[in-house]
Amino acid sequence: MCGIVGYIGFRDAYPIIINGLRRLEYRGYDSAGVAIVDGGTPYIYKVKGKVSDLVDFIGDKPTSGTIGIGHTRWATHGAPNDINAHPQVSMHGKFVVVHNGIIENYSILKKKLTARGYTFHSETDTEVLADLIEYIYEFGHVSAEDAVRFALAKVRGAYGLAVYCTDESDKLIAARSSSPLVIGIGQKEYFIASDASPFVDFTDQVVYLDNENIAVISREGIVIKTIKNVVVNAETKKIDFDSDEVEKGGFEHFMLKEIFEQPRSVMDTFRGRISEHHNQLTLGGIMPVMPHLMNARRIIIVGCGTSWHAGLLGEYLFEEYARIPVEVEYASEFRYRNPIINSQDVVIAISQSGETADTLAAIQLAKKCGACVIGVCNVVGSSISRATDAGVYTHAGPEIGVASTKAFTAQVAVLAMMALFIGRSKYNISAEQYSELIQELYSVPSMIEEVLKKADKVKRVAELYYKASNFLYLGRGCYYPVALEGALKLKEISYIHAEGYPAAEMKHGPIALVDEKMPVIFIACKDKSYEKIVSNIQVVKARRGVVIAIVNEGDTTVAAMADYVLEVPKCNTAVGALVAVVPLQLLSYYIAVLRGCNVDQPRNLAKSVTVE
Ligand code: AGP
Repeated sequence: MCGIVGYIGFRDAYPIIINGLRRLEYRGYDSAGVAIVDGGTPYIYKVKGKVSDLVDFIGDKPTSGTIGIGHTRWATHGAPNDINAHPQVSMHGKFVVVHNGIIENYSILKKKLTARGYTFHSETDTEVLADLIEYIYEFGHVSAEDAVRFALAKVRGAYGLAVYCTDESDKLIAARSSSPLVIGIGQKEYFIASDASPFVDFTDQVVYLDNENIAVISREGIVIKTIKNVVVNAETKKIDFDSDEVEKGGFEHFMLKEIFEQPRSVMDTFRGRISEHHNQLTLGGIMPVMPHLMNARRIIIVGCGTSWHAGLLGEYLFEEYARIPVEVEYASEFRYRNPIINSQDVVIAISQSGETADTLAAIQLAKKCGACVIGVCNVVGSSISRATDAGVYTHAGPEIGVASTKAFTAQVAVLAMMALFIGRSKYNISAEQYSELIQELYSVPSMIEEVLKKADKVKRVAELYYKASNFLYLGRGCYYPVALEGALKLKEISYIHAEGYPAAEMKHGPIALVDEKMPVIFIACKDKSYEKIVSNIQVVKARRGVVIAIVNEGDTTVAAMADYVLEVPKCNTAVGALVAVVPLQLLSYYIAVLRGCNVDQPRNLAKSVTVE
């Protein structure tokens, strides 16, 4: 996610753009930039760092002008630095672009433009888009609007754009597909932004651009069309949020926003990696180390907390599809043992922040022992992403809530793609199986969407049990890591003691804890151990335990036994774990809110544990 802001009107654009970017920093904060237009000439300033670093850099440089665009970045293509910061400018300087999203086919477009003499300064997909617009504008002898429209017709991916053309200096052009973009409607002034927070102080009238809509904005008004040049009569709506609520997308907490973002964030993880027909995978980040993966004696996955849980799911996925032995280690334990690893081992380090000290130390140890190390990180340019030999970014966007939710599902989605890709490369999976498995993976966002529609049911369960002092989470197979993750979520934000266990382990001790006061959460989705989990539920019920079960839609067996069931769509493979975790994320959230806890910043916790 990135934040974009644009302004055209009668006021000084600079302070509006800067304050707007400050409100959007939750969407990304690794670099920032502005273009302020004075008499047709854009002054462009951009730096690595936060908006405050940009303001310091600009100092008393020229910033007058009543048109401007700005950007605060969450890097996806190209490390966070001054050159990759937005605005990006086309080669001949005619188009200035800020972009939120991912252009999936930018490599192909870049090759075609290079063949036509275009050169590139940054590593970004956005610069490619700016040059494509300029190429069409100059060689097609079309208007700036048509050049943008024709260029976007060639683009595959997600975009929220603000574009300025130096030849048409009295307007801005905005466009979106998949990435959010709203237009604020003032009196002879207009605002473009990723959400309404940058301009709620100026107007409460907005137009929400639809997908593949393009807007041409001048002081006289806006004209909205589809990419196919059909005029759109967009409805002007009234915002009823304040700026703080808008930053959270109208949600009460960032955690809830991020739980509900998962259909999009998991889709963003797939972008550019799952083919248009969902039957091929492209994982450019691991291609340099594929020989290591193809010949690996063993894969060791290291991580902490939720990332360690993702690693446990990675174990199931790699052993099932890639047929490579996997060990999953707490990074903190791994680094202090004297592990026996060598150049035949591949270590996968998982980290949302990319800054976790224990995980970084585990990487250093693995590299010292000669292992090939692959990173699965969410923050581009983070320490871990720079310390590893190769990697795959999760593209989940900034995760503000301390309790990790969308980063977890993005991590597992990456591990699933890696396992399938390697499995197919080793011919463990037929082309038909490969296509089926990719298709099921690709359907995860819509399945999560279905679960989120039933959030109220989860809330009702939370209302019944938020005063409990202990919870037990039980699962089998690929749902055992889900049990652990559900228990961690509850612990860290509601401060209720909760334990995750393999369901079969219950009879080896934890069953002694079961009584009518302890809710026992079973993940009872239909897989090869379903019958066993049904037996486990019977054992708990026989001891007057309270059973809350995550089941597949239409399950009548468990529904007849459990006190409460929360339904999720049926999955035929381990990707079902990506869907089954969502009710548990919601349950922990609603319980924490009912207990009056600080959901986004739980006590004693930090978002990134950069100390040992
Ligand atoms: C997860 O909800 C926790 N906030 C915590 O366990 C976290 O997963 C752990 O600290 C690892 O962080 P990382 O993924 O940034 O390395």
